[in-house]
Amino acid sequence: MLLVIAYTIIGIAAIDPPGGHKNLKVLPKNISPDMLDTVMNGFGKALGVKCYFCHVVSKDSAENRLNFASDENPEKNITRKMMKMTAKLNKKYFSFDKSENAEISQEVSCAMCHRGKPNPNKR
Ligand code: HEC
Ligand code: HEC
Repeated sequence: MLLVIAYTIIGIAAIDPPGGHKNLKVLPKNISPDMLDTVMNGFGKALGVKCYFCHVVSKDSAENRLNFASDENPEKNITRKMMKMTAKLNKKYFSFDKSENAEISQEVSCAMCHRGKPNPNKR
């Protein structure tokens, strides 16, 4: 799981066919739907939350569908910063041998800090 997040953030998954997503700013734009699912489920698990913790309900849908492309829920942009921070920590502080896998190092993960909670500073 962690490896998958690391791979997708860095863009190695770019060989997958385009997923047609509208508003990806950190993940590779052509990430496959399967890979995106895996990443999103991983966030949910690491923080102990459901999709709607970060995604708003669509205004123009009667069925309470989530609007995944919308950035209206502030948790989504917080998460983008967290993704960048996590990737940077791995790359900068854990790839001691730069020649080997510096891009996909995964010592630091969302779960390492969050441990199934949305905010690691709160009980
Ligand atoms: C902790 C926050 C968080 C949780 C929980 C979460 N997401 Fe996301 N989701 C994001 C962020 C951040 C992005 C945008 C990533 C980027 O900019 O590269 C995103 C993007 C998406 C997109 C792409 C939308 C588009 O068209 O641009 C889909 C689809 C999606 N999420 C589905 C889900 C599903 C399904 C779940 C529940 C299983 C879920 N997400 C749970 C934060 C979250
Ligand atoms: C090095 C530790 C660390 C890592 C790694 C980390 N986080 Fe966080 N995260 C925190 C802390 C600490 C807070 C609380 C900040 C505060 O109190 O304002 C937080 C807050 C958040 C919040 C806001 C929660 C709220 O209550 O509104 C989200 C969403 C989030 N993190 C998602 C993620 C995701 C997704 C990842 C992995 C890509 C991640 N974090 C990786 C430490 C971390």
